[in-house]
Order: sequence, then C-alpha cells, then structure tokens
Amino acid sequence: LKHFITTEGLSRELLTEILDTADSFVDMSAKQVKKVPLLRGKTVVNLFFEASTRTLSTFELAAKRLSADVLNLNISTSSTSKGETLKDTLMTLHAMHSDMFVVRHSSSGAAHFIAEHVTPDVAVINAGDGRHAHPTQAMLDMLTIRQAKGDFAPLTVAIVGDILHSRVARSQIHALRTLGVNEIRVIAPNTLLPRNIETLGVKVFTNMQEGIKDVDVVMMLRLQKERMNTALLPSESEFYKLYGLTMDKLRLAKPDAVVMHPGPINRGVEIASSVADGDRSLILDQVTNGIAVRMAVMSMSMSGQMKSRGNEL
Ligand code: CP
Repeated sequence: LKHFITTEGLSRELLTEILDTADSFVDMSAKQVKKVPLLRGKTVVNLFFEASTRTLSTFELAAKRLSADVLNLNISTSSTSKGETLKDTLMTLHAMHSDMFVVRHSSSGAAHFIAEHVTPDVAVINAGDGRHAHPTQAMLDMLTIRQAKGDFAPLTVAIVGDILHSRVARSQIHALRTLGVNEIRVIAPNTLLPRNIETLGVKVFTNMQEGIKDVDVVMMLRLQKERMNTALLPSESEFYKLYGLTMDKLRLAKPDAVVMHPGPINRGVEIASSVADGDRSLILDQVTNGIAVRMAVMSMSMSGQMKSRGNEL
C-alpha cells in the first residue's frame, strides 16, 4: 500500500521529502522538460464525486507528465446515476487494472475507506474528502510558502474564514505544525470555528484586525456554502466587512506578508480583488505548484516511499 490520505501524523522528514521532490519537478519544468517516465505503464483514474477545477486539472497534468495513462471518470454521466454504489464503481475500475485512484468525495473518510476496505491493492490519493482533509492542497501551500519565505521556523501564519467546514484548513494546520512554524492563528467568527480547535495547537482570534497583526502569511478560505446549514449561512456583506481581506486589513500584517487562497475565490466575499490580484498575492503560484506537488506525491506513492517510512494513511 502506498496511500496519501492526510497530512496528520506524517513525519517532518516525509513532508520535507515531498517538498524537495516537488522542487525537482519545478526545476525540470523551468528547463522546459515536460515529461519523465516514472509512471510509464501505470493507469491513474481520477474519480471526482465533487466539482473541481484546480485539483482535477493538475492531477491530470501531473499524471501525464509522469507518463501515466490517465482516465477521468465523468461521475455525472457514469453509472452512479443509475444507482451503482461507490464500492461497485470502484470494483469495476479495479477490474480494468487501475494502479491509482485519485478520489474527491463529499463524505469525510471516503478515501480512507476505499484504501482500507474496497481496493487495498490500488494506491489511493485523497483529493479532498468532506470536511476532513485535502493533503495535496496543503502540500502545495507549503511549497509556495517555502519558495516565498525560505524557512518555516520564524513564521506566523494566519488562516482566515470558514475553518469549520474546511478540509484545507485542517490539512494546512497539521502540515504547518509538523514543519515547525513559530505560530499558527485561526481567524473566524465563533459560528465558523470547530469546537476544541485549540487542541490542534493554534491561537484563535474572532477579531480579524487583532489576528492579522504582524503575520508573515495570510491564508484565506472560501465560505463552504455547500457544507453549511443554510439557516446558519452568514450574510456575505457582513462577513466581508468583518473578515474579508482588504488592503486596509492587509496593512496590519508584516510589510512583506504574502497572501494565499486555495481557490476558488469569491471576490468581495472573503477577499478584495485589489488583494487577490495584487503583488503580494501568491494565488496563481499555488495553482502552478499543484502540478509539481502532485507529481511528487504520485511518483513517491508508486515507488513505495510513503509506505517504507511507515507514513501511509
Ligand atoms: N483548491 C481546490 O481544491 O480547488 P478546486 O475545487 O478547483 O479543485
């Protein structure tokens, strides 16, 4: 087995190795080398039961740059619409000799369930499961931070917005802690904070101006309306007033603070266009880094490095 389900519990050594391997693919790309044969003869199946632009596209590009054969199953036109279960869909694809499933699903635990109980001989990469985890997103965020800041140790990082429903925030917090940042802050209204979030080793702020003061990195999050009880949905204009990242609020961070967002962004809800498109924004660098990080994770998974270090699942 060689799965990548979560950043929680992984060693600093493994996370650093993923970043170093991704860096080698960034260098390769800079030298106009588009393809390597590391996954030649392997079949990667992208199974996205939830919508995606960035993750699906970059997994496909990454697999192709590793020379894999790639199948993107279109869930909306697949036989799941005729009532086929997730398990039967996966067993069907397993019978086609797939080597890797890249899975996005609305249920927390879906990727783990598949890896453990459905097709344990197929490598499973979690592309986002419910509110639980989005580990490759967190790793591309870590790569982007390392490129911008060099060293994790002195950094204060703020994660802002809908922490409660965010699989990205959970995976970021675990990765940032393991990589040894100085301080992680979460900034959100009480209604969008998970209970006991402090147990993850973060400082909690409900006031954006206080939370963003002197931080090195601001990581914004989208309101995950698809996972919210609509009765609890905050007013977008009120949310923007209190927690939207505007130039005025960004001035409270360090003068060289960088701005990140996993996307998709909602302009005028969690971030102003002037910030998203400004010179401190790394949002499109994050997208670019998604290819290298996914190449790293897929190639390490297939070569067994995830397992050999006792870091699977
Ligand atoms: N960040 C992210 O997961 O984006 P997509 O939903 O477009 O894949």
